[in-house]
Amino acid sequence: MKSGTAPLEPPLKHYLQFKDFSAEEYAYLFERAAVIKRRFKNFEKYTPLVDRTLAMIFEKASTRTRVSFEAGMYQMGGSVVHLTTGDSQLGRAEPVEDSARVISRMVDLVMIRTYEQAKLEGFAAHSRVPVINGLTDEYHPCQILADVFTFIEHRGPIEGKTVAWVGDGNNMANTWLQAAEILGFTVHLSTPGGYEVDQAVAGISNRACYKLFKNPREACRGAHLVTTDVWTSMGFEAESATRQQAFADWCVDADMMSAARPDALFMHCLPAHRGEEVAADVIDGPQSVVWDEAENRMHAQKALMEYLLLGRIG
Ligand code: CP
Ligand code: NVA
Repeated sequence: MKSGTAPLEPPLKHYLQFKDFSAEEYAYLFERAAVIKRRFKNFEKYTPLVDRTLAMIFEKASTRTRVSFEAGMYQMGGSVVHLTTGDSQLGRAEPVEDSARVISRMVDLVMIRTYEQAKLEGFAAHSRVPVINGLTDEYHPCQILADVFTFIEHRGPIEGKTVAWVGDGNNMANTWLQAAEILGFTVHLSTPGGYEVDQAVAGISNRACYKLFKNPREACRGAHLVTTDVWTSMGFEAESATRQQAFADWCVDADMMSAARPDALFMHCLPAHRGEEVAADVIDGPQSVVWDEAENRMHAQKALMEYLLLGRIG
């Protein structure tokens, strides 16, 4: 075909970080997630992804991410291929660029859970199909997509609200900051010394969307949502003993929750360690919405996959 006559392809859309989408796109996705969830609850068949295949690549363990993507894809009429480092050539040093070129010629969508964000970006740069971040050391956008959707279901718009982050300055904390900047809420961040969020890694443009607190109880004061995560993320296991000591005062307990608004929600992306980052009576208590949060991974990701493959519906 002569140059200039080739049909215009829409630009390939990936979901590598929360900030890859605008506030307006999130408003659309949250509405779609609600529609898709309602249909699922009503046992209405909805199979727009017949003949589409999702490849899921896991270089770290997973329960929720695997089940939510796999069940979600099947429910929408599609299929999945599941790869891990141990059972593919990824574990034998095949370059990520070559893996991307090959895998993306055979499937319609790829979800990757890996270590460095740079590896995910290297894959996406050589992929013919959309790539989704299923967690990296730096970010966990699918989780925050579900978490914000869960907040909206329970409390309405998140804009203008306060989210208290108690714990590690990790992939979840970074992603909450990106969400705050895009969706217009504030994060109260309290991390132990040495485990702070690095603003450059978080990838936000300025400090307007967050405030720092030495005392985690102070971070919770007046919050609409209190959230935390494991003290030791996947890939950091060698630091576990040191972290146990450093994080001892960063356990979300009933006293911390009492500093938040009386109607504050508690969230945790799970898996959780009761008695470490959260007290059992908080995670299993009336303010906790962790099971809705986990379930909503599936509904929110179905909306995400539909959007990446089919664009806007209706
Ligand atoms: N929250 C989350 O991503 O859980 P998994 O590690 O089980 O996928
Ligand atoms: N921060 C945690 C989240 C697990 C879903 C980790 O990266 O291990």
